[in-house]
Amino acid sequence: MTDYSGQVVMITGASGGLGKEAAKQFGLAGAQVAISDVNEEGLAACAEALRGMGIEVFYQACDVTDEQAVQSFVEGTVAAFGRIDAAVNNAGIDADHHLLADTPTADFDRTMNINVKGVFLCMKHQIPVMLAQGEGAICNISSVAGVGGAPHMSAYAASKHAVIGLTKSAAFEYGKKGIRINAVCPFVTMTAMLEQTLDTMPDREQALKYLSKGSALKRVAQPEEVVHAMLFACDKKNSYMCGHELVIDGGMTAI
Ligand SMILES: NC(=O)c1ccc[n+]([C@@H]2O[C@H](COP(=O)([O-])OP(=O)(O)OC[C@H]3O[C@@H](n4cnc5c(N)ncnc54)[C@H](O)[C@@H]3O)[C@@H](O)[C@H]2O)c1
Repeated sequence: MTDYSGQVVMITGASGGLGKEAAKQFGLAGAQVAISDVNEEGLAACAEALRGMGIEVFYQACDVTDEQAVQSFVEGTVAAFGRIDAAVNNAGIDADHHLLADTPTADFDRTMNINVKGVFLCMKHQIPVMLAQGEGAICNISSVAGVGGAPHMSAYAASKHAVIGLTKSAAFEYGKKGIRINAVCPFVTMTAMLEQTLDTMPDREQALKYLSKGSALKRVAQPEEVVHAMLFACDKKNSYMCGHELVIDGGMTAI
């Protein structure tokens, strides 16, 4: 198992499926974890559960679209733990699914605001801390919809392509300063986000079967399978991976 002893890992969207699992796995690997989410109740419950596992936790509610809140979360993390070794910018949404011409413009704006501006603001405030340390790793959560089209999800796909654009540009800007920036791109993963989509389908089981067919493994991912890639991306031993989009898709994009 990757060892994060003595390291501080900051995670957004920690009330949700992937964020919560990431906080647990980084914590169990020895990290002190700083977690945030816009869902305060879920965040407090996550912090309590992590502490119950013996993990050291700092938590602060934060809407990633609010620059002051993001800055305050970064400052709070440094005040609590002294540094930020790794950051997982995971908070995101998947708005209702529509053909492009039927997509409400407000949905497009909201998706871009949370999924793109949120990642931008987090990196904007994490990078100066990492520059002062002379090292750091950032893992932005994109999607397979960030490397290819996603019918009925054009706003989401655009936002996840943009996350890769931010990742690659910043990776080149800050690689020489010791900061590695990568993206993880999951296929459909069993979290609240997927449950929400399944709830809108006339036949949940049929929909899940249809989605599973897209992967070579013929199943969707479990959160822990995606989180392994986040631990790999931020691992100090993984020192030459920079500006990469790490696709975790059960073979979906292999053909
Ligand atoms: N589950 C999937 O199938 C899947 C596939 C590919 C990529 N992803 C990406 O993985 C990330 C995590 O998704 P998940 O599946 O865990 O979803 P989730 O809905 O379980 O969790 C997302 C979390 O983000 C939080 N959030 C939403 N808006 C926020 C805001 N403005 N500020 C702060 N937090 C906010 C939510 O409260 C929630 O706790 C997202 O970026 C998502 O796009 C998920």
